Amino acid sequence: MINILMISGSLRSNSYNTAILRYLKNEFGFELYENLGEIPAFNADLNIHTLTHDDSPKNVQAFRQTLKHADAIIISTPEFAHQIPGVLKNALDWVVSSGELSDKPTMVISATPTHLGGEKVHDALVYLLNVIDARVIEEASLQVSMVNQKINKEGNITDTALLEALNTRIHHFLQSIEANTTPATSAKKS
Ligand SMILES: Cc1cc2nc3c(=O)[nH]c(=O)nc-3n(C[C@H](O)[C@H](O)[C@H](O)COP(=O)(O)O)c2cc1C
Repeated sequence: MINILMISGSLRSNSYNTAILRYLKNEFGFELYENLGEIPAFNADLNIHTLTHDDSPKNVQAFRQTLKHADAIIISTPEFAHQIPGVLKNALDWVVSSGELSDKPTMVISATPTHLGGEKVHDALVYLLNVIDARVIEEASLQVSMVNQKINKEGNITDTALLEALNTRIHHFLQSIEANTTPATSAKKS
């Protein structure tokens, strides 16, 4: 079974981006990472690791291990001042040198209440993921515009076009992962 880890770029309890990932969790059983807010501010002085040993802060170690054991990643993020939210960028800064996202199939979703659907953050995140050698699956990526009209107050997706788009993208994502990778979980066992 493919192990997919999902990260929301928003810590807000009623986040639309997290609501999208909760839908994917319920529908497909993917894991939602819940501890992004616990990762300390990046400090190169504390970024102490080798290939075999990690003396970085405990929550950073845990984040890295969780990423390492995932076969693929889905990130859904809002756009803040046309940029990647600080909490997400901060977490990704910790894995620049340790490389847990290297060659990892990654799907990018951006969702905002505007008609642009976070195109700037989408481009910025894809750019960053390419810099750290993640394998962004472009045909699986999605920009969700007017998200506030597509998800209700209870956090349920009410827009059938969005549900269809998500299901189609997940189908492409799973196909791409299966075509190109040996699951990390099976590799670990052998
Ligand atoms: C500090 C801040 C900056 C924002 N900047 C943008 C922006 O540049 N572009 C945009 O489309 N929305 C922007 N928004 C609106 C967010 O997209 C909106 O609040 C969204 O619902 C946040 O995502 P979430 O629902 O997943 O928490 C901003 C919101 C905040 C709080």
